[in-house]
Amino acid sequence: MEEKTYPTAEKTYINLEQYQTLYNYSISDPEGFWAEQALEFISWFKPWEQIKSGDLQQHNMRWFIGGSLNACYNCVDRHLDTRGDKIAILWEGDDPSQTLSLTYKELHARVCRFANVLKQQGVVKGDRVCIYLPMIPEMAIAMLACARIGAVHSVVFGGFSPESLHTRIVDADCHVVITADEGLRGGKLIPLKANTDQALQLGTDVKRVIVVQHSGNPVSMQAGRDIWYFEAMEQVPADCPVTAMDAQDPLFILYTSGSTGKPKGIVHATGGYLVYAAITHKYVFDYHEYDIYWCTADAGWITGHSYVIYGPLANGATTVMFEGMPSYPDYARYWQIIDKYKVNIFYTSPTAIRALRHEGDDWVRKTSRQSLRLLGTVGEPINPDVWEWFYEVVGEQRCLIVDTWWQTETGGILISPLPGATPLKPGSAAWPFFGIEPAIVDDEGHEITDDKPGKLVIKQPWPGLAVAIHGNPARYENAYFKEFPGKYLTGDGAHRDREGYYWITGRNDDVIKVSGHRLGTGEVENALLTHHAVSEAAVVGVPHEIKGQGIYAYVTVQNHVTPTEALKAELLQRVKVVIGSIAIPEHIEWAKGLPKTRSGKIMRRILRKIACDEVEDLGDISTLAEPSVVDDLLASRKRATKS
Ligand code: WT7
Repeated sequence: MEEKTYPTAEKTYINLEQYQTLYNYSISDPEGFWAEQALEFISWFKPWEQIKSGDLQQHNMRWFIGGSLNACYNCVDRHLDTRGDKIAILWEGDDPSQTLSLTYKELHARVCRFANVLKQQGVVKGDRVCIYLPMIPEMAIAMLACARIGAVHSVVFGGFSPESLHTRIVDADCHVVITADEGLRGGKLIPLKANTDQALQLGTDVKRVIVVQHSGNPVSMQAGRDIWYFEAMEQVPADCPVTAMDAQDPLFILYTSGSTGKPKGIVHATGGYLVYAAITHKYVFDYHEYDIYWCTADAGWITGHSYVIYGPLANGATTVMFEGMPSYPDYARYWQIIDKYKVNIFYTSPTAIRALRHEGDDWVRKTSRQSLRLLGTVGEPINPDVWEWFYEVVGEQRCLIVDTWWQTETGGILISPLPGATPLKPGSAAWPFFGIEPAIVDDEGHEITDDKPGKLVIKQPWPGLAVAIHGNPARYENAYFKEFPGKYLTGDGAHRDREGYYWITGRNDDVIKVSGHRLGTGEVENALLTHHAVSEAAVVGVPHEIKGQGIYAYVTVQNHVTPTEALKAELLQRVKVVIGSIAIPEHIEWAKGLPKTRSGKIMRRILRKIACDEVEDLGDISTLAEPSVVDDLLASRKRATKS
């Protein structure tokens, strides 16, 4: 390939040399480095007594021990003197005519009132509060109000079904749910209140549902349980003091998928998380005081937590919040929003870029985008040709691109180019952030130092690392620290080239990324198994042009059942009901049997290869209990691709 160079920004915080110096310092003296950063980025009520304790070996890392702070104070109150009239949140509704801006002063007033509403409803420090809202300003207000009084929020993405919402409410033992009458996406109404009612009917300890009026359509309100947000806001005092939190106190729980069926409640601690979100937001996006910053993620995911809310607000930024989707009213929507608010920094997903690229360049070219300086991507690998399109067409060769690699568990970005410092290579997330020491290991845990594929692990703790899986210490240990003791296991495959660039190749466990959404194959299988006609189900991810990965499901029906198109439709509907639309399979394949080892374990590797038509090399199938199953699957795959 011809060598091509991409420009580096002119006026950035750091250059290559400074990156190397700071990086080396952060690795050789992490305590010194993090002490300085924690003071620079965060205001503490009481400083820490010890920077860090514990280690990855015993997976008991703690940061800023003895320190006291409040996340809401850091994101709102402390900016009032210097940035009171600066816009904190620029909100754009699904309908382009609906907009709202909140200055730091206005945000403060609303957060204080809502914190008082929560208190009035009996919420106290340590209580878990479920937030099931669309991307409206009240999402930020509710999260910050929880943080203000020390309640632990658990945001559930508005696209999740009532059953998924129910599981998460029960697991976190939430007694209060904050929702809206309806959400709006692409002109379609999402029945959030009705979904909440259905979830609660399945049995929970929820005593109070606070409902934001958004669409304004009538919804049923249960007397004694449900109250209106705006009415409650009028009945409480305007002032609300912040609660001093220990650095170790949980700030939030966020559910994500693992390799088994049940989602895990990832817990982030106030001190470490906030320091890490703030520092990465500044350096990765080269954020400067007057920038207009837009991350398109929904706050239902970690990207929304760290880079729509906590990181940018901790840094006193103007953060754009968008309720809608890139295709509505038309495919120019993102670029129009960029022009409308003069966005300088734009952070989105490869899936969105692929979908927009698919619609042709005209949608982009008819907008100006002159305000853009920096582009970012997150959530899945970005194909180099898609990267090039983003660079050439959207950024007009003027903007740097940061391909940021991280996870719900990591709290913030771990591997990414830093503007001004890192020469870019399309398709690579480049180098580790300060304090991050990744390694690639083989199955035995030996470090791979040449450019060969292996498993991506992190060798040193950093402040953003999740501290627990809610209510399940054994799972926390097993998922991240068991396979390679002393290292954090990411679950991703990667290789590192001679220049130290990391190339993430995707998950190497039973997790898939569909449109950037993280799903466990086990979750989808469990959903299929709730249908009485299904005897067995196995799910694998297959490459998908737009979504990155699509879901391919093998289903074995009960003896007496005839597989039909109608049954297929029912199964797709089941998945929608149990999880949500994001998990609906692309393809259902009727299987007479599934390939299993003699001990009964389904061999997904073989199923994946068949679904991807990589049948020349199925690998070792000698351990199969019944090898003929594979011939049947191959024959049926052949029939399916012919038709
Ligand atoms: C998984 C984590 C991190 C916020 C959003 C996703 C994949 C994430 C990249 C990237 C290649 C990526 C990994 C990771 N991933 N960013 N830049 N290049 N893959 O958080 O839902 O917890 O998913 O997303 O597979 O393990 P998440």
